[in-house]
Amino acid sequence: MKRVSLTQHLVEEQRLHNSIPAELRLLIEVVARACKTISHSVGKGALGDILGSADTENIQGEVQKKLDVISNEILLEANEWGGHLAAMASEEMESIHPIPNRYPMGEYMLLFDPLDGSSNIDVNVSIGTIFSVLKAPEGMGAPTEADFMQAGSMQVAAGYAVYGPQTMLVLTTGNGVNCFTLDREMGSWVLTQRHMMIPEATKEFAINMSNQRHWHAPVQRYVNELLAGSTGPREKDFNMRWIASMVADVHRILNRGGIFMYPADTRDTSMPGKLRLMYEANPMAMIVEQAGGAATDGRTRILDIAPHKLHQRVPVFLGSKAEVALVTSYHAEQC
Ligand code: AHG
Ligand code: MN
Ligand code: MN
Repeated sequence: MKRVSLTQHLVEEQRLHNSIPAELRLLIEVVARACKTISHSVGKGALGDILGSADTENIQGEVQKKLDVISNEILLEANEWGGHLAAMASEEMESIHPIPNRYPMGEYMLLFDPLDGSSNIDVNVSIGTIFSVLKAPEGMGAPTEADFMQAGSMQVAAGYAVYGPQTMLVLTTGNGVNCFTLDREMGSWVLTQRHMMIPEATKEFAINMSNQRHWHAPVQRYVNELLAGSTGPREKDFNMRWIASMVADVHRILNRGGIFMYPADTRDTSMPGKLRLMYEANPMAMIVEQAGGAATDGRTRILDIAPHKLHQRVPVFLGSKAEVALVTSYHAEQC
């Protein structure tokens, strides 16, 4: 089999679709290189002294793991000097990170969840990195948080790396979704799946069932129908999976179909759901739509939501189109 590297793929995409100018290619390659470094740290585990807590809290009030902090640093350092970015933003930083004056300023803005699935780090279960790329608004001066307040439909690229039995990079620049596997010996990303498409027929769902008693009625109804299986209205049995790393759950859905849900619930109305719009839901929604699936917050297409703050949370329903449409229709019937 002829091996196609990430660089070759990006160059070919540019020739085909004119969608990846040199600066964006540099950006993607730098992010991919940073993910390679994170993957290397993840693989070392206790031997690299990367497990356990950093004993600090991030802006969301979550205790940071050492690897959350390390991965954030790796991404910041890798992306600062290339001249391709104007600013960055991260789950692990309260405010945006403008590119320091000593480096040239580029036209893109990068957002990331440096380490997704933190609760799985110490138990050797798949984790990942999620990223989203926006263009800086025309005529932008010194970047501010307001410049990042763009709907997900404005993303020019989105992707994630999953650090599992294999390290993979899943990427879209708006012309389908492609998957690269890290060749650990060669240190290179090799194209291993072209044009990933989410299978429509599915018998799998992913949700944290321990929150069931807090869910709103439309989610209760939808999940109860799945649980009723072949004797219920769906007339087939469903299986459940919950990895607690969104990257790993989404990666399974891209390959095997299904639906992923992290709904809002009755507990804290100031906190609609758990996942963050700008660097978790938006990039995943772009990938899922590009792979023929759908993503909503129960009512609205995720990519159409106008953001109002960097760390805002959003309910998430994504995956196979018909399933997302069904649970979304149950929300519409409710109002
Ligand atoms: P993060 O580690 O970046 O904070 O994200 C974890 C998220 C997501 O990856 C996962 O789907 C979800 O939290 C798991 O939540 P529960 O702990 O409620 O299962
Ligand atoms: Mn996350
Ligand atoms: Mn994270």
